[in-house]
Amino acid sequence: MWKKILKLQSIDSKRTAICQALQQCRSQTLALFSDIDDQTFRQQAHPDFSPVGWHLGHLAFTEAYWILERFAGKQTLFPEYQKLFAADGLPKESRQNLPTIDTIQDYLQTVRKQILAYLEVAPLEKEERFWRWLIQHESQHSETISFVLELHRFHLTANQASFSFPNSLSPVKKIAPKTVFNREMIAIPAGDFLMGSNAIEAQDNERPTYTVYLDKYWLDPYPVTYGEYRQFIKAGGYQKAEFWSEKGWKWLQENPVAQPLYWREETIWDNHPVCGVSYYEAEAYANFVGKRLPTEAEWEKAASWNPITKQKSAYPWGNEEPTAKFSNHNNLFGQTTPVNQYPAGKSSLGCYDLLGNVWEWTATWFTGYQGFQSYPYRGYSQVYFDGEHRVLKGGSWATRPWGLRNSFRNWYHPHVRQILAGFRCARSN
Ligand code: AVJ
Ligand code: FE
Repeated sequence: MWKKILKLQSIDSKRTAICQALQQCRSQTLALFSDIDDQTFRQQAHPDFSPVGWHLGHLAFTEAYWILERFAGKQTLFPEYQKLFAADGLPKESRQNLPTIDTIQDYLQTVRKQILAYLEVAPLEKEERFWRWLIQHESQHSETISFVLELHRFHLTANQASFSFPNSLSPVKKIAPKTVFNREMIAIPAGDFLMGSNAIEAQDNERPTYTVYLDKYWLDPYPVTYGEYRQFIKAGGYQKAEFWSEKGWKWLQENPVAQPLYWREETIWDNHPVCGVSYYEAEAYANFVGKRLPTEAEWEKAASWNPITKQKSAYPWGNEEPTAKFSNHNNLFGQTTPVNQYPAGKSSLGCYDLLGNVWEWTATWFTGYQGFQSYPYRGYSQVYFDGEHRVLKGGSWATRPWGLRNSFRNWYHPHVRQILAGFRCARSN
């Protein structure tokens, strides 16, 4: 009997925690729309990404579909939105014909009220994993909204000032770096470690955990900075095929660029991580310095493995939840910070700036781990196990805390530059 009461109590504290996270995440999402104009709301900033207004409607649709229809067994709430806001409804270029922002906000609120009422009685012992997924789903769309808005600003400034556009992207904040730079690579000892996560919040693609043996390797202590990347540009890196993979060179010829998308010329940015590179550019830079990109396992081991306790931690700094003390995430600054800004975020093996700031490209193709099971639907991860997406690790300055952890896996086509991605390098000996 006491056991049962304890269990009920813990379920109720979970209810409260989930409700708080949902509301917190939502107010952060809505804050991104505080001074948006109608054009920005409904126009695509780039063909690979939906208008920001679409993401808002999609969030309401997702909650209504899963919670109200599938779990609570209610009738479809706004059937007219099904085609428009379902992930597999319309191609991205057909998502610009949207209701007004006020109408979509009403839609969000109507659905949210009903799902919170249901949450009070929901059988969480069965549904907790889904609710945790839902919070992360909004977190991820919230990040996409952040960088699509960044892209809109980028285009605006590009049209006004003809060349030095990226520097006026967002105002430079003077941020004094907190540690001295020692850029010597870190030796990661050979041995077994644990990949992935079985925690309740782990996505389908992080499960199940498994042991991996890695030989000794070396990893950069920090992501590659603008200052370092400038050497590659100066050395004619974008003109010399020798640094590029065959596919990378082909991509470059078809998409001639000569610097990262979010390039920053002023030296005040030199210690910030380079941001806005495709996988191919990251790979070419690594070749230029005689290194290579790390595999996902190499990245995750350096971030999470404690060789003394032989335990894996959820975050590089341990198991304490992410805050402003440890990493640049959750739109704290609305931009990158110097890579040596967060000494408290150091991993047991001695690497810095692993979570937050910029996503980091890895050499690993996105596939399921042994024993993978789709959740909550095939289209979430499994349809991307196509040998055409590379894994990114670590999260960016726009990643919400619910999506920030060592085992989290992001994935994009190697040509994508609009996401907030940089990289660090590895070598075998
Ligand atoms: C993991 C960021 C690639 O935005 O396409 C959102 C996340 N999946 N809704 C994406 C996602 C379904 C996904 N990424
Ligand atoms: Fe989605």
